[in-house]
Amino acid sequence: MSEKKAKMSQAMKEKLTPKSFVKNPIKGTKFTLMVSSAKGGVGKSTFAVNLAFALKQLGKKIGLLDADIFGPSLPKLIGKNEKPENKDGKYIVPIDSHGVQCMSMGFLVEETTPMIWRGPMVISAIKTLTERVLWKDLDIIVIDMPPGTGDTQLTFAQDIKVDGAIIVSTPQDIALLDVKRGIQMFDKTKINIFGLVDNMSFFKGDDGKNYNIFGEGGVEQTAKEFNKDFLGKIPLHQDLRISADKGDPLTLSDPKHEMSLIFKIIAEKILKKLD
Ligand SMILES: Nc1ncnc2c1ncn2[C@@H]1O[C@H](COP(=O)(O)OP(=O)(O)OP(=O)(O)O)[C@@H](O)[C@H]1O
Ligand SMILES: [Mg+2]
Repeated sequence: MSEKKAKMSQAMKEKLTPKSFVKNPIKGTKFTLMVSSAKGGVGKSTFAVNLAFALKQLGKKIGLLDADIFGPSLPKLIGKNEKPENKDGKYIVPIDSHGVQCMSMGFLVEETTPMIWRGPMVISAIKTLTERVLWKDLDIIVIDMPPGTGDTQLTFAQDIKVDGAIIVSTPQDIALLDVKRGIQMFDKTKINIFGLVDNMSFFKGDDGKNYNIFGEGGVEQTAKEFNKDFLGKIPLHQDLRISADKGDPLTLSDPKHEMSLIFKIIAEKILKKLD
């Protein structure tokens, strides 16, 4: 084969081989967990924050990273709005909330500043949050992902080492459609799915009856269909919503609450997977 031909066939080979990405671990933590769902408003942030404090109560050192660049909610959920300390003009020191190290775009910009950014800026913000934050001696970072399958998800899938993903969904058909898309994205990008959580699963009335407001059993069934674990049901409960609005996570303020105990069981299941 002529030299020119050999060069061309090499170039063709490179084009045709699937790209393999170098995934960098986030420094300062042993494990990185992602709380995700392609669907918006299903309770990812509420779940991530309460899971973080439940894991902390099980003796782990926890970090909480809000990866929602456009709609950060962590400052509100933990009731903190401090500006993080800057180290050497290069690094950001996480904000402490009752022993959990927290970081969010919301700490870096004013609460009401709209983020009107294009893809590359989002990617660079995610890089800042994953490479420039001085996480210290953590066992686990819990990442609260934004909804969808956009630039943030792609950046995590290609560039950042994630040990496990937890998919949160309501049992509603329209949410499950997005969940199925999300599962396939994780499978394709080789992110290990630890399991699915059914949030707003049912509402227990004063009459003691359970009302399946968003449908019944759909998340567990989807888990089965895709051969994933089902991690549990979290009912719709006013105390969880009130504590979120107050910036005082229920698993922190009332660890014996029936809802906190549900989070504890899920946290234990997740820790088993990291063993
Ligand atoms: N199990 C629950 N019981 C009662 N309220 C809940 C429950 N889970 C979440 N909520 C409430 O539902 C609303 C949406 O929750 P949250 O913001 O956590 O969703 P999200 O999936 O993070 O949304 P987004 O896609 O916008 O990031 C919030 O008001 C929250 O307090
Ligand atoms: Mg959210």
